[in-house]
Amino acid sequence: MSLEPPPYLRPNLAIAERVSDLLGRMTLGEKLDQLHQCGVGDTNPNNLAQRLDQFQPTYGSYIVGGPWRTLLETRNVLQQRAVEESRLGIPALFGADVIHGYRTIAPIPLAQACSWNPELVRRLCAMAGAEARAHGIDWTFAPMVDHCVDARWGRIAETFGESPHASSVFAVASIQGYQENPAAPIAACLKHYVGYGASEGGRDYVSTDISWQKLWEMHLPPFEAGVRAGAYTVMSAFNDLSGIPTSAHPYTLTEILRQRWHFAGPVVSDWASVAQLIHQGFAAHGAEAAQKALNAGVDIDMADGLFREHIKQLIERGLVSLQRVDEATGRVLWLKFKLGLFERPYTKANALTAPSTPPPENLRLTEEAAARSLVLLKNNGALPLAANVKRIALLGPVADRGGPLLGSWAQQGDPAETETLAAALRSRLGSDVTLIVAPGCGIDDYDPSGIEQAQEATHAADLIIVCLGEDQHMNGENASRSTLRPAGRQTQVLDVALATNKPVILVLVAGRPLEIDAVEHQLAAVVAAWCGGSRGAAAIADALLGRLNPSGRLAVTWPRTAGQIPLYHNMRPKARLADEGNYRDSLTTPLYEFGHGLSYTTFQMGPIQLSATTLSPRERLIAEVAVTNTGPRDGIETVLWFIRDVAAGITRPLKELKHFEQALIGAGQTLAFRFVIEPKRDLTFPDDSGRPQLEPGEFILFAGGERVSFHLTA
Ligand code: GLC
Repeated sequence: MSLEPPPYLRPNLAIAERVSDLLGRMTLGEKLDQLHQCGVGDTNPNNLAQRLDQFQPTYGSYIVGGPWRTLLETRNVLQQRAVEESRLGIPALFGADVIHGYRTIAPIPLAQACSWNPELVRRLCAMAGAEARAHGIDWTFAPMVDHCVDARWGRIAETFGESPHASSVFAVASIQGYQENPAAPIAACLKHYVGYGASEGGRDYVSTDISWQKLWEMHLPPFEAGVRAGAYTVMSAFNDLSGIPTSAHPYTLTEILRQRWHFAGPVVSDWASVAQLIHQGFAAHGAEAAQKALNAGVDIDMADGLFREHIKQLIERGLVSLQRVDEATGRVLWLKFKLGLFERPYTKANALTAPSTPPPENLRLTEEAAARSLVLLKNNGALPLAANVKRIALLGPVADRGGPLLGSWAQQGDPAETETLAAALRSRLGSDVTLIVAPGCGIDDYDPSGIEQAQEATHAADLIIVCLGEDQHMNGENASRSTLRPAGRQTQVLDVALATNKPVILVLVAGRPLEIDAVEHQLAAVVAAWCGGSRGAAAIADALLGRLNPSGRLAVTWPRTAGQIPLYHNMRPKARLADEGNYRDSLTTPLYEFGHGLSYTTFQMGPIQLSATTLSPRERLIAEVAVTNTGPRDGIETVLWFIRDVAAGITRPLKELKHFEQALIGAGQTLAFRFVIEPKRDLTFPDDSGRPQLEPGEFILFAGGERVSFHLTA
């Protein structure tokens, strides 16, 4: 009788060897349980969770929710049952949607992208991962790296904006933050694979009609970057991709993900997206749904239980192979070995478990992030607030509420503890300044009773700040809107302020660009504060008072109206030039361009200098610009480098972001920004099967308002 533990319990052996040994010991039923993910607690308002007593010790993973104080205990109870009551003692995996923070809430990902600071994003994910890990979460269903150019879709809030390059950079930073935190690594999950952000009409859960060319150019790059950065898991999506739902799509799930990118980790379905194949008319019943999803490449079935219910019979009918079940089970076991769950199945309470409020150092980090994510869209000089402004009216339903700042997917963030803009201003304004706060209306209702109070509040004011936006449930999943206009009577409150002919500063707290085109010309200043998180209000107040110098830049095009959608910077050229083909009833340009953002200082960019004007595919081209801070105070500047391929075998976008760099430039100082162009990385485009194409010819390089041409030889 060997005293040595079986190979799968020996941490000194290679993971592949441990997986193989354990697979050989498992029954089919035990394998199928590993492919089952069960909901615990209130995980997501759009999905119903099962009750604790339905769980089996052999379930492979759980998606957990509910109050953070009980989560760790719940997790360890379930884990003890898995380890001690199951025959082979296989620990369970515990996943949750830690999208932008856990106990301390960071700005939403769309806001983080406007910081143009990947290191900051990495730090935010490391912070969130450590907080989540302390409460027993091994796996976060993030980063979401969908490509979206339709602000009607509530989930644009969860994206890193419209640039495939920027989304790729932030995807990698997120994965590094979650998975490479030595103190508390948690598995990342690239989602929603793939194309979900192209949901028709901006509605949710609907079909997407995407050409293979656009899929390869716009939607796949962040997933490929994330896979190559070592993401442990991928989540399939809800959307029907041009006739085949992505949770049962062999081309994306197997040919691309496995055969082209060699991704080794498990693919988890989205919540009941296997069962939803029936709603989509892609499966006649649960058995067919399970068969198609598993055979296409989904390994873990989230929440609907169809794999557990049908795969055994499907094997007996020869419709699913035992080899495929072993492959899927092996990936789940690989993840558990990778996370060290066999050696450390339980989560011990630590310093992050105890505090009743978010840790101060985490609040400081999220405040820095909110400050860097805030975008000053317009300023006629009204900001920063002048010392002679002594009476301020603060209007709008978001001005004195914490929830909107947290945004959707706010996990364990508590609106009641979240400082409001009114409170942040009160604590900063001198005793000689009067702040009159009047919401004027609700966020999403038509109750007129507050309008009169708002009018009264403006009478004595020197200046009016109007804070509009969305409540937490108004962005994120299942939060599509047919218009981008602020909801309810919010625009009426803004009109009340504008009717005074006093300076009006608009602050927007939302998960998407909002429609303000009709009144924008009347506004003294516009600040896009997004859902800035636990310390979002502090960042707004510091920006309004000039204690920080805004540096955010839009990572998404800001349309004038929803009628312009889709409208994005990397569109293809139209057939006609100048104004031909544009709208006849409105301007066709966006209200604010991708990359737009103002500062309290000014920057002057010199011409682009090139190391050569011609290069071969094997050479590199060095581009440089000098940027001078010509204004009165230090400021952070971001240089976005775009490239256009002037003529190619297929039409190419007007401009594609290929590189970005950020630096603090002291008042009066000049700094050089550099972009080293590598043809294979920066001048290629994928064909409709994803094969990179590099063609000689003219290219245009853009930075700021500067542009320069160069030629690639054969
Ligand atoms: C949801 C979302 C997905 C999330 C999952 C678990 O429906 O689409 O983003 O991770 O279900 O809550």
